[in-house]
Amino acid sequence: MNEQKGKKGDVECCVVSCERPLDEKYWNDQYQSNTTGWDLGDISPPLKEYIDTIENKNAGILIPGCGNSYEAEYLLSKGFTDITLIDIAPLLVEKLRQKYAGNSNIKIVHGDFFEHQMKYDFIIEQTFFCALPPVLRQRYVWKMHQLLNENGVLFGVLFNRTFDKGPPFGGNQKEYEMLFESAFEFIKIENCEKSFAARANTELWIELKRNTNSSVNLYTFDGIVCNGCMETVTDKLREMDGVLNVSMSNDFSELLIVSKKEIVLQHLQSQIAYDAKYRILKINS
Ligand SMILES: C[S@@+](CC[C@H](N)C(=O)[O-])C[C@H]1O[C@@H](n2cnc3c(N)ncnc32)[C@H](O)[C@@H]1O
Repeated sequence: MNEQKGKKGDVECCVVSCERPLDEKYWNDQYQSNTTGWDLGDISPPLKEYIDTIENKNAGILIPGCGNSYEAEYLLSKGFTDITLIDIAPLLVEKLRQKYAGNSNIKIVHGDFFEHQMKYDFIIEQTFFCALPPVLRQRYVWKMHQLLNENGVLFGVLFNRTFDKGPPFGGNQKEYEMLFESAFEFIKIENCEKSFAARANTELWIELKRNTNSSVNLYTFDGIVCNGCMETVTDKLREMDGVLNVSMSNDFSELLIVSKKEIVLQHLQSQIAYDAKYRILKINS
């Protein structure tokens, strides 16, 4: 557990068993024991390059699961005035609060990203998605959509590889496209050419613009126990008028529905009523 194997930025250095919940205590322990193999020690080059293209220095920018947040240092050096950092690990947050004490251009929030309520123009993805248990991926898309302003953009890097055990948890382009489909417009989702050296050829660069013309809703789902049933249910929901995309978490407990307009819960329930044990309930923020 918690062995630190590799050098800084080496994707193999955080080797942990996934039996522990990846909660506040887990992440705080990582900082306490200095088992922070994900930490690059610097801003990743493609993030820096993208930030250099943002003209509005007063844009609201969120860095979720910020860690030591080298992106924030860079943003401040470039004159950005509205930066928010959020992280679940109290030790790390305390360190950031001391570092940025008195700096009114940066807000530091201790808390769970999924409970955060605000609106931003940009959200930065840097080793946060991969730190979350994969069952939270539908929730991640839903929350990102909720936190972005009308033309807001989620940008950053995602792993384009798998890992024996996580965190980090990997994935690939097809999987991410299916997950973000219709909730976001894909400005870019492509091999990352300028990754930090230790992550070369293992990352995708993403620029995803919030799709304002879609309603993105999350539901709990009860009653499915196998992939076959999941496929039947998601196919049935996809057939509904106005539905643009449907995806279910890999433990079958959460369902993401992207549609032109929100679909009345009763209609969703009746579409899956061929099996009496299927129950769907809306999750409100
Ligand atoms: C792999 S680290 C990445 C840190 C930083 N982005 C970096 O690349 O150095 C994941 C970070 O996400 C934080 N985290 C995990 N789950 C979180 C949650 N639900 N809400 C907020 N932060 C979370 C952890 O405390 C940790 O700092």
